[in-house]
Amino acid sequence: MTPPIVTIADLSKHVGAEVTVRGWLYDRTDKGKLQFLQVRDGSGIAQAVAFQKELPTEMFEAARTLTQESSLIITGSVRADKRAPGVPGGYEIGIKALNAVQVAAEYPITPKEHGIEFLMDNRHLWVRSKRQWAILRIRATIVNTIRNWLDDHDYLLVDTPILTPSAGESTTELFEVKYFDDLAYLAQTGQLYNEANMGSFGKVYTFGPTFRSEKSKTRRHLAEFWMVEPEMAYFNLEDLMDMEEQFITAIVQRVLEKHPMELEILERNKAPLKNVIAPFPRISYDEAVERLNKLAAEATDPEQKEALKIEWGNDFGSPHETALTQQFDRPVFVYHYPTAVKAFYMQPVEGRPEVCRSVDLLAPEGYGEVTGGSERIYDKDLLEKRIEQIGLTKDRYKWYLDLRRYGSVPHAGFGLGLERTVAWVCGLSHIRETVPYARTMNRMYP
Ligand code: 4AD
Ligand code: MG
Repeated sequence: MTPPIVTIADLSKHVGAEVTVRGWLYDRTDKGKLQFLQVRDGSGIAQAVAFQKELPTEMFEAARTLTQESSLIITGSVRADKRAPGVPGGYEIGIKALNAVQVAAEYPITPKEHGIEFLMDNRHLWVRSKRQWAILRIRATIVNTIRNWLDDHDYLLVDTPILTPSAGESTTELFEVKYFDDLAYLAQTGQLYNEANMGSFGKVYTFGPTFRSEKSKTRRHLAEFWMVEPEMAYFNLEDLMDMEEQFITAIVQRVLEKHPMELEILERNKAPLKNVIAPFPRISYDEAVERLNKLAAEATDPEQKEALKIEWGNDFGSPHETALTQQFDRPVFVYHYPTAVKAFYMQPVEGRPEVCRSVDLLAPEGYGEVTGGSERIYDKDLLEKRIEQIGLTKDRYKWYLDLRRYGSVPHAGFGLGLERTVAWVCGLSHIRETVPYARTMNRMYP
């Protein structure tokens, strides 16, 4: 009987049996007559032991000389052994047969330390490393949870275009592309089309890549990132926050439940994630400014003082967001931002048009803004006026204004940045590792 082909993740189901595993050589420890191979197959990493006495000479030689990342197929018997290293570990394969599929050339990424630029240049190979593997698996679960949660709560997935004739957010950070004899922009957001789709389905979401030609080299900005954007008819700002906190809670708790092993690999402190349970605190922009200026007044370090001070009307920088979130044990909503720092479509606060019905969710531990949303202006004349004020080309928004002409309703929505969320949940200091192939101001290779 030929042994079954199994995955490393499933080894526990085959203790005592003979199996075949197909994968790559992650690492090896040479103990002479014993070769300890760390074999990975995509589902995990397991120790496989080649013992000279138990193998034909040429197979033992192959086991002894195979280079890092060579592809191989091994057959052997599975033993449970608590000490066996691996991911998840605890099982070992006693090799009976080994087949080298391809002997790898000298692999550039070795267990020693490499600089980040080198690793990013070799991203196509770096994705095989244990940490990167863990991050991208968590990313996939976050994507899956986003879709499932929204589907289960009666939000309809309706896709929005990537090639668009006009700006969705502001005109400064757009990628322009030739579109036959015209110009198009890569979508910064699906929101405006989402609003049209909301008119048909009530509760919708769009989830796809978005593009911003941001000239910022921060730890939080990508030129291409994924955003999920729910949009709901008849929702006000409070409804929006109620929904967002349930949604975020579901995402974080799902990762904790499904990925203890990956979080361990990433050495992620789980305590702050366990706290991410709705309800989340809600403070107004006014209150946030007060809190920051109080912190600035109390700060003894003059640099810190300067960094925390904020004049009413300015947007928060990352030191502000960090300091604010440090005051809470879970994500915090900041609502009613100054109209001047937010997008043209946000509903002004009744009787106080200098602030708008917007809300950002700031993640703890210095991660800052992970979602941005608002109530939308639903009065046609006001929206038209805002489009003019901002200096957008009105005839490109004709269809958008139509939405306010035919059964306009109060509505609200938000966008959650996938990569910012992955960085936060995984506890990463930089967003570039949260996406398989990061696109930033100074990189689009590989
Ligand atoms: O706050 P933003 O710009 O909001 C919008 O685009 C709205 N139209 C969304 C909506 O209401 N439908 O972006 C939303 C989120 C941010 O909170 C952040 O998490 C992420 O998208 N984001 C970025 N992520 C990575 N790199 C960038 N350059 C990002 N810009 C925004
Ligand atoms: Mg924002």
